[in-house]
Amino acid sequence: MIKILIIGASGQLGSVLTQKLQEKYGVENIIASDLRMNPSFNGCFEVLDATDFDALKEIVIKFGITQIYHLAAILSANGEKAPLSTWDINMKSLFNVLEVSRLTNMEKVFFPSSIAVYGNDAPKIQTPQDYVLAPSTVYGISKVAGENWAKYYYEKYGLDIRSIRYPGVIGHQSLPGGGTTDYAIDIFHKAVKNEVFECFLESTSVLPMIYMDDTIRATIELMEAPKENITVRTSYNLSGMSFSPEELTKSIQKIYPEFKIVYKPDFRQKIAESWPSSIDDSAARADWNWKPQFDIDAMTSIMIEELKLKYTAELNIN
Ligand code: SER
Repeated sequence: MIKILIIGASGQLGSVLTQKLQEKYGVENIIASDLRMNPSFNGCFEVLDATDFDALKEIVIKFGITQIYHLAAILSANGEKAPLSTWDINMKSLFNVLEVSRLTNMEKVFFPSSIAVYGNDAPKIQTPQDYVLAPSTVYGISKVAGENWAKYYYEKYGLDIRSIRYPGVIGHQSLPGGGTTDYAIDIFHKAVKNEVFECFLESTSVLPMIYMDDTIRATIELMEAPKENITVRTSYNLSGMSFSPEELTKSIQKIYPEFKIVYKPDFRQKIAESWPSSIDDSAARADWNWKPQFDIDAMTSIMIEELKLKYTAELNIN
């Protein structure tokens, strides 16, 4: 009997993952939670502030939760505006998940980490899984600490907690909030609306990215892998594709030749420069057969198709 609690279910990844898990395990077995519910949400939803230990524990007991996906966090760019409260929120919510899971003998937990765990000194190309983690953002520091706490709970208490270091996630279903890779979603919305895109990164900043469908599939494949296959108990590097704003623009211009981008780098440029350009994910490939399916052009064409449908539908409603 599987009962899943998703924390951060109204967010960029959470909203899409919730739907996938509902399809897979049945709507009645998925409890979505967040500070607020998306107006279009269908299913079982609980308002939850994950920094509130008692509230989290109550929901876990009330629904007989067997698995938690803890997706709520303050991302890299927003985190830099309020470092101490970002640390508090990211760590407190994780500690609550770990402790409630330990106390209730949770079967499995998922905790996302990020490419943000690497810092300026790490090799930029095919950054190795085990390179020293010396991040330059508070978000990255909280993810490094989180990875180590996950490993600690696994080793000390046997909690089966699994994790992926996500690249920038790109999808048409939802909008990100406060990350450094957000430009790669906004750009598609502008292209489809026939507007000029103002990019907050420099044209040549290459970052690791991944299409939403690959992200969701990776997450579910990791969670379903046999326990004995999981050799990385901090967090797995995961690779989808890598590109710069300039390369993404060229991909979009294959469909919209008139599309225009202007560059106005801001504080997020420094964050991007501290991150890898590409990621060595050989551990994920070896342990649970990870293989991405979407390259930049395949992603671009689906993003544009789907966003065109979305905006046409909105025009018809209004
Ligand atoms: N996409 C995230 C961010 O930009 C990285 O994990 O903050």
